[in-house]
Amino acid sequence: MAKRILITSALPYINGIKHLGNLVGSMLTADVFARFNRARGHETLFLCATDEHGSTTELAALEAGQEVVTFCAEQHAAQADVCRRFGLSFDHFGRSSNPPNHRLTQHFARMLWKNGHLELRSTKQIYSNADQRFLPDRYVIGTCPHCGYPAARGDQCENCTRVLDPADLIEPRSAISGSSDLEIRDSTHLFLKQSQFVPQLREWIGSKKDWPVLVTSIANKWLDEGLHDRGITRDVAWGVPVPDDIGDGKLKGKVFYVWFDAPIEYIGAAWEWAEANGKGDEWKRWWLGEAARDVTYYEFMGKDNIPFHTVGFPVTILGVRPQEDWKLVDYLKGFNYINYYGGKFSTSQKRGVFMDTALEILPADYWRYYLIANAPEGSDSNFTWDHFAGVVNKDLADVLGNFVNRITRFCASRFDGRVPGEGEYGPEEHALIEELQRRVQTYAEHFEAIEFRKASAELRAIWAAGNEYLTRTAPWTAIKTDRPGAAAAVRMGLNLVHTFSHLAWPIIPTAARTIHETIQPVAGGGDLIPWPEAPMAEELDQLEAGQPIRAPEVLFAKITDEQIAEWTARFCGEE
Ligand code: 2FM
Ligand code: ZN
Repeated sequence: MAKRILITSALPYINGIKHLGNLVGSMLTADVFARFNRARGHETLFLCATDEHGSTTELAALEAGQEVVTFCAEQHAAQADVCRRFGLSFDHFGRSSNPPNHRLTQHFARMLWKNGHLELRSTKQIYSNADQRFLPDRYVIGTCPHCGYPAARGDQCENCTRVLDPADLIEPRSAISGSSDLEIRDSTHLFLKQSQFVPQLREWIGSKKDWPVLVTSIANKWLDEGLHDRGITRDVAWGVPVPDDIGDGKLKGKVFYVWFDAPIEYIGAAWEWAEANGKGDEWKRWWLGEAARDVTYYEFMGKDNIPFHTVGFPVTILGVRPQEDWKLVDYLKGFNYINYYGGKFSTSQKRGVFMDTALEILPADYWRYYLIANAPEGSDSNFTWDHFAGVVNKDLADVLGNFVNRITRFCASRFDGRVPGEGEYGPEEHALIEELQRRVQTYAEHFEAIEFRKASAELRAIWAAGNEYLTRTAPWTAIKTDRPGAAAAVRMGLNLVHTFSHLAWPIIPTAARTIHETIQPVAGGGDLIPWPEAPMAEELDQLEAGQPIRAPEVLFAKITDEQIAEWTARFCGEE
């Protein structure tokens, strides 16, 4: 039965192109899952957006010498482009700075205020007289009291990594103007009374028996350590303005904290999607009340985001009940990190491989396959060029690529490039059909359980079964004495090529299409290559005798030792 599947990937921060660790921990895995569900015929809405607000963005724009609006527009376009080139099939890639998120964020805040879940509190903040504004912690620069680093930021010293308070800094000054004319002033902010929600959150998390332990353990740790009420407004300029009717007139000129508005953009992106596609109110059918009851909602993210999605955003949703019933996440898939040679991928230090540079050296599917096969599910995983090359060369070049090339070339040279009709399937073929029937079922089950490593291991085993079958039946030898037998093996081989393309599509969509087109054009003309739903006995006996096929060029080029050496040197990062 067709299901309705809503998928969101954690929203990438606007500043800079993301690295492979960010990619696999959110957007790529969400994409593979979205493709799998579409392939199975489920109604799927897959949303993502850039996370644009906050002081980090203001600072990044300042450093780039651009207005923040221009900076965000450019960065959004750059990320949208690289995501497209990576084959990320978002139904919509929105922006948290767009009007739907502004309207929704203000709406949620009004409802929380009305329901008594927000309160005003006075806090002490650094004020810069020269800049005539409050400075967020990271806008205050000074000498680190621990290591003497002269450009430490007020939230953390980048040199010794110690967490700081702006008041700790020696000779503090403004990051904007450099002025040291700073003082401490009172500033009133809105606080979300999260602590009241602990029993409800506990019960909700406790009911999620099938969630990854990584996710429930992080959520429970937060709840066990005592949940603090959270300031949800800030004294910065770039964000969703706090509306006048909240806060008794004490919040003029303030904006919502970026972590308050960013998850609301999951809903905002659905609204943007509906607006962009002339679908009116249809976005509500995915998110709100009775109409969205049959939707199953999946979230994908790295482990650092888990607290905001198991506590922060759910409190926003729970706090507007009972008047409004927005969806809470049904399944949250959290990931560990991918390390780069045992250390962290780092955006600020440009250490590791980033989405744009990755595509400069190899097509997207090489990366997609490697990252999915090594997704950091049970623990952190480690990227090295040797490991990457080993996986690509073995699985993609030796197993899949070699299989497709061997059988299509042989068909071209000995059977006139047409599916041979002679010969019958015998015990070898029946055994293979039976094996694949089992394996394809298992492969689908791993996807349904959102276990990417297991799914790709099963896919690899399916390809290997095809290779072993060809090695056993060896049509290139058999043809000398048993042409009908060789023909049946070639026919099976070509049917396997075709079925492999259908199975591989969620993970390596471009290569899957190329492989499919060696046999025949993909039906329907769109991007999608559907799941092989028929029994394997039918799937593997569906090509018409006499149908022409095309032997492709090399599908996956092997990575050479020279390339490994070159890339190791190029991407080592600054250490
Ligand atoms: O960690 C990050 O990259 C955040 N930009 C994720 C935000 S997810 C959602 F809440 F918007
Ligand atoms: Zn097909």
